[in-house]
Amino acid sequence: MTEKRSALVTGITGQDGAYLADLLLGKGCEVHGLARDVSGFDFDRLASSSQREGRFHLHGCDLTDQAALRNLVAAIRPGEIYNLAAQSHVPTSIAEPLMTSEINATAPIRLMEAILDLGLGGHTRLFLAASSEIFGDAGGQILSENSVMTPRNPYALSKHHSYVESQKFRKERGLFIVNGILFNHESPYRSPAFVTRKITLAVASMRNTGEPLRLGNLNARRDWGHARDYAEGMWLSLQRDIPDDYIFATGENHSVREFVELAFAATGRRVRWEGAGEDEIGFDADTGVRLVEVDPVFFRPEDIGATVGDSSKARAELNWRPRTNFAGLVREMVLSDMAR
Ligand code: NAP
Ligand code: GDD
Repeated sequence: MTEKRSALVTGITGQDGAYLADLLLGKGCEVHGLARDVSGFDFDRLASSSQREGRFHLHGCDLTDQAALRNLVAAIRPGEIYNLAAQSHVPTSIAEPLMTSEINATAPIRLMEAILDLGLGGHTRLFLAASSEIFGDAGGQILSENSVMTPRNPYALSKHHSYVESQKFRKERGLFIVNGILFNHESPYRSPAFVTRKITLAVASMRNTGEPLRLGNLNARRDWGHARDYAEGMWLSLQRDIPDDYIFATGENHSVREFVELAFAATGRRVRWEGAGEDEIGFDADTGVRLVEVDPVFFRPEDIGATVGDSSKARAELNWRPRTNFAGLVREMVLSDMAR
């Protein structure tokens, strides 16, 4: 195993872990994936040729198990670590703030300490998956790396904590750390806990179930990109010789309502909206069948109204750009769910 070309990816069973593992294998890396439940890994997500070459290794480890994590880093001595593991669902963070903080803040800080203690500071480059949630509700203002950060829920606070600590490890302790400040990115691998996949799964199965889709805030706007593009950004950001922080975003946003309309359009259906607020209903414009209902249970206490990011730094310094547009993303997700 060549140390330089080995990468440790935490959160390998998640959406981004799947794209990143495949990308790294395609670049000839030895990939070590960390999962708390190795049986949950879907090997179909990886290109079969890469698996045959035997460069993919799974390790069972909970990110919060400090000793096990440290032993793993010591044994692998990875050239790159991508810390993607997280409790990544905002409503769950409100219900479970301590657990969220342990996984999203304490564990990455311990990981930084382990890299230092093991004397790997000059060898291991660390990517941390930060989030646009750290900015809080900026009222739809375009956000850059220098924008004010006012995190407003436990998930955002935990990501902000890790972000702030990482600045110290980089500036004061000399670690090579990059924060990717990631805006929402989606794909057919997205968990149904998030609104985009919830929509595409419902659209794909509605002809069988006949059940309308129940959603919360239809007017929330997000800067939605494709996870494949963001995985490429993660890799690019560790190839530069100077560590820095980068926003990854498309620069445009769309509402949940627009996502719903495009998703139904991919199956040849048009949505006609009637009513307002909690009483709003989306009907099939041709048949009058109920397609969408608003359910207050999915409203959030302090929802962020709109996000949009300025990724010009990543575009200029990393030559990164998103390749899949919003319409292409929605269509890919719906078609994938229909095929399943
Ligand atoms: P995801 O699909 O929710 O994946 C999270 C991963 O973390 C899963 O593999 C999960 O494993 C793992 N994990 C959770 N707790 C763990 C623990 N205690 N020990 C070990 N592994 C644990 O998230 P994603 O969409 O791929 O996002 C990747 C990263 O980017 C996350 O840090 C997320 O917060 C951040 N981010 C994502 C977005 C986005 O729009 N996707 C935007 C901004 C930032 P299980 O399979 O066992 O649950
Ligand atoms: N999940 C969900 N379910 N969200 C809904 C629903 C619903 O039924 N109806 C409306 N929404 C709205 C939410 O209120 C929110 O405004 C928006 O849809 C997006 O919600 P999610 O898809 O759950 O994503 P998120 O923006 O809260 O968080 C994602 O992006 C962050 C980056 O900004 C996650 O991936 C985070 O981990 C990530 O950091």
